[in-house]
Amino acid sequence: MTILSKEAINDGYYYFVNGRRFNARARYILPSDEGESVRLLEQHFCFKILPPVKPQLDEGIQVLDSACGYGAHWTTDIAKEYPNSRFLGVDISDGFPVEDIAPSNTTFALGNIAIKIPLPDNTLGFVFQRFLIGALSSEEWNSNLKEIHRVLKPGGFVELLEYNLEVYNAGPLLETFTERMFQGFKNAGLVADISIQLNDRLKKIGFVGFVTTVQDFPLNNSHNGEANWRSLGGSFRGMGSLLAKVYTEWEDRGIYKEYMDNVEKELIEYKSYVKIYTVYAQKP
Ligand SMILES: C[S@@+](CC[C@H](N)C(=O)[O-])C[C@H]1O[C@@H](n2cnc3c(N)ncnc32)[C@H](O)[C@@H]1O
Repeated sequence: MTILSKEAINDGYYYFVNGRRFNARARYILPSDEGESVRLLEQHFCFKILPPVKPQLDEGIQVLDSACGYGAHWTTDIAKEYPNSRFLGVDISDGFPVEDIAPSNTTFALGNIAIKIPLPDNTLGFVFQRFLIGALSSEEWNSNLKEIHRVLKPGGFVELLEYNLEVYNAGPLLETFTERMFQGFKNAGLVADISIQLNDRLKKIGFVGFVTTVQDFPLNNSHNGEANWRSLGGSFRGMGSLLAKVYTEWEDRGIYKEYMDNVEKELIEYKSYVKIYTVYAQKP
């Protein structure tokens, strides 16, 4: 089983760049620290939609929040709404809510969801997994989706939410940024267009009953645009150290910040947006 004990978190487990904490054992490109938790909390509320398995959650099922994130905002928020269900949050980095603030129907474990979800076969009624786009290679995605299939009970549901990072109505600064970001993803062995591959990958593993929703996500313009930009733009700002490996002018944090500040202004004029994919499927 790949439950990592607290003792596994030793000096080599994290590294620090410009005061931000990163996980040295994961491919994941964004920081894992309290600053990231603040971004994830706002992002959680940009995306809060009721899980489609509401009747089952009301009744009481076992749920996994796979890669629950620093602060585990979905796990704790949804666990409070469904006291009859039990929730496990798993992440490769710590930053789980402390026992006295976590709802009593939650537990948390360290684990690598691309290798082994720390649960027996056929255990869960629902698996939720959101925003792993910056974390897994193509092989790791397949292994992760097979693991989700393994731990679900027959009849259990999965819900996956991912950004599609192709930007619509991009201005010149965002266009350059996204070209560089896609190169950065490629260099890091990541799958930048995973959102549009999820259905096919899940089908090959044996999932059925697909419901896919595609939503526009306006950036710094239109309804909710500012909060949306703080969520996605916050992750772009957190990619500075990844991109500076190739685009060395961005090694200077001030230059990178100024570039992103100018992207932020450009978004208003161009009315740029991305799309969000939600894929919902069932284990037969
Ligand atoms: C963008 S955050 C999303 C967190 C949460 N799902 C949410 O929506 O708020 C991605 C999370 O994936 C975790 N992660 C990355 N690679 C992982 C892996 N191989 N196994 C488990 N967690 C991983 C990171 O530590 C991070 O907390």
